[in-house]
Amino acid sequence: MAKMSPGRQENQYRNKVMLAPMVRVGTLPSRLLALDYGADLVYTEEIIDRKILLCQKYENVILGTTDYTMSDGTVVFRTCQREKSKLIFQIGTCDAKRALAAAKKIQHLVAGVDVNMGCPKEFSIKGGMGAALLTQHEKVKNILTTLVSELDVPVTCKIRVLPSVQDTVELAKLIESTGVSAIGVHGRTKSERSQDPNRDDYIRAVAEAVRVPVIANGGSKDIKHMLDVEKFKERTGASSVMLARSAMWNSSVFRKEGPLPTLEVLKSYLRYAFFYDNNEMNTKYSVLQILHDKMTEIPEAEQSLSAKSLQDLANIWGMQEEYAHVLEKRQEKEKHLADLAGG
Ligand code: FNR
Repeated sequence: MAKMSPGRQENQYRNKVMLAPMVRVGTLPSRLLALDYGADLVYTEEIIDRKILLCQKYENVILGTTDYTMSDGTVVFRTCQREKSKLIFQIGTCDAKRALAAAKKIQHLVAGVDVNMGCPKEFSIKGGMGAALLTQHEKVKNILTTLVSELDVPVTCKIRVLPSVQDTVELAKLIESTGVSAIGVHGRTKSERSQDPNRDDYIRAVAEAVRVPVIANGGSKDIKHMLDVEKFKERTGASSVMLARSAMWNSSVFRKEGPLPTLEVLKSYLRYAFFYDNNEMNTKYSVLQILHDKMTEIPEAEQSLSAKSLQDLANIWGMQEEYAHVLEKRQEKEKHLADLAGG
């Protein structure tokens, strides 16, 4: 694969609206749904370098996907051709060599690789990953320069802001000097939570200080419509915007014509989850997130709390026939392949 020029690599991230990385939520069904509604790029959930290195690659002919699975069959990463040119793989790492080995394993399936430098969870911090990297300049430099020079696809990173605006700008400049194609900036510090105000002015200071595209993040509380995305962009002076929670609550926020009713979006999400045999617990989690403010209004919402399988969710949401059809088609394919193999 020929490497794009730095200018073209940066353009991939300019003037775009993206689905942000979200553990459990950002699997194939959510990504395809976000693309259907108009997202320009979609991120995987964070996947730890060690984990992808442990996985076996598997061409899943039945589902039409490429899977990376653990020895117990757990799917760590499932993707399909349709999202390849829009997919950014987010990696969790604290080590340049390991990050490179992991990224090399998947780069032929994605449009870019992003390094998570913002996760504040204990698991990440203890492992020296995520937000632990924000104050380790040498490590940041090492990881990003290694990936930029060795990978064929563009490299970016997603940071949280530091308590001082000067330190945040300094970090962003250091990151830019490594040759990354864009910088995602979540306007909260490592210790701040989603209820704390997003520091839009810090994102603006970074956007003014660097030449590469800045992707503003952290504005979901005020974003229900693409018009709100434009306002967030104006407030932050960023080139692009990345949405996590607002897209998790209603993925059709990406529609230029305006969002669709929640339950319509929920059913479209479930259709993809059934088709791609998405992990049942992740599917349930995503369904409950879509319903987050409707738990008491809709009986099916409460029933979804006790769902243990995709079949349960199909039953609760009146989608038994659709799910049965998906299973039937899958079985037909399996039988066809078995017949072919048997000669
Ligand atoms: C996240 N976030 C996150 N960030 C990241 O870099 N990698 C990840 O895997 C995750 N996982 C994740 C899961 C869930 C369920 C949520 C809600 C969030 C953080 C996310 O990408 C984003 O930075 C914040 O949610 C702020 O943006 P919004 O929600 O205001 O658009």
